[in-house]
Amino acid sequence: DKANYRHFMAKEIHEQPEVVGHTLARYVDMASERVLLPKLPFDFKDIQRISIVACGTASYAGYVAKYWFERLGRVPVEIDVASEFRYREAPLRKGDLAIFISQSGETADTLAALRYAKAAGAYTLSVINVPTSTIARESETVLQTLAGPEIGVASTKAFTCQLMVLAALAVAAGKARGELSDADEAKLVHGLIEIPRLMAQALTIEPQIEKLAREISKSKDVLYLGRGTSYPLALEGALKLKEISYIHAEGYAAGELKHGPIALIDENMPVVVIAPHDRVFEKTVSNMQEVAARGGNIILMTDAKGAAEATIESLVTIILPDMAATFTPMVYAIPVQLLAYHTAVVMGTDVDQPRNLAKSVTVE
Ligand code: F6R
Repeated sequence: DKANYRHFMAKEIHEQPEVVGHTLARYVDMASERVLLPKLPFDFKDIQRISIVACGTASYAGYVAKYWFERLGRVPVEIDVASEFRYREAPLRKGDLAIFISQSGETADTLAALRYAKAAGAYTLSVINVPTSTIARESETVLQTLAGPEIGVASTKAFTCQLMVLAALAVAAGKARGELSDADEAKLVHGLIEIPRLMAQALTIEPQIEKLAREISKSKDVLYLGRGTSYPLALEGALKLKEISYIHAEGYAAGELKHGPIALIDENMPVVVIAPHDRVFEKTVSNMQEVAARGGNIILMTDAKGAAEATIESLVTIILPDMAATFTPMVYAIPVQLLAYHTAVVMGTDVDQPRNLAKSVTVE
């Protein structure tokens, strides 16, 4: 049931600190600040390459994880949507690791990609919310997300729980490969333990987002920009907005702006910039300057430090809590989801059951 919420989506957005916390507790040992995984049939030290395969929002969780595995574990990662992966006959080798991410565990393309990877002799590991699902049953290793049932068609809490599992897995990879010391692991795990509290703090900006949603609802198009791990989040923001509010939106890597989409910038198209104060922050600021110089209306999602350094006229600045730079996507997902949700509410769409969409896509 929806408890006191108007929609399942609202309830599921608000449940995130709790369910991400449950997921965290399954995969890390809080007392010793170590990652805690079930016994894996492979050693990360022997893995030459990881392929991550999923659809939609789950693929964006995979895209964030690519940055984490590469940064923390120095292991090359390929990410692809399942419908492309399965038909391009990706050259997987025996001993490669293939990771599948799915809330439902029933997505037809992801399942077919899993079967393809198994036939190629790859290790298969799935991050799944429904443990009795077909993908869970057919995978060699299953790491369950503890999001609980997700009813809203637009994925929210499953996404952040997927990120939590993948973050723990990337830390484990870094550790096994000798890229991270015990102290590094403890520091990163400490950062993960902070996440549920930071997500709860991020939820308190909801009134500001509600106001902003009234502005966004007047737009025909919205552009989302981000760099590094904020880039997949920009893709997710655009997907969420279009699927429930039916407003056209695009997500771009901030550095790609000048290679095309900058032609679209005018005072009618809001530009949502996701920019925590991380190692690529200054680069994103210069992209914001390009937008501002062309009269674009910037909605900046950043932290206090970023807001102080941005020195750019933004329409609205949404300030998120200070945190360790590595894991910002789990916290910045909150304003991104809330913005889509409240815009859809203003538009009067069927938020939990958007037109033309199904919760589980069991046909290809
Ligand atoms: C977006 C959304 C879809 C799903 C996609 C994969 O909000 O819900 O993009 O993420 O259909 O579904 P699962 O995770 O069940 O494989």
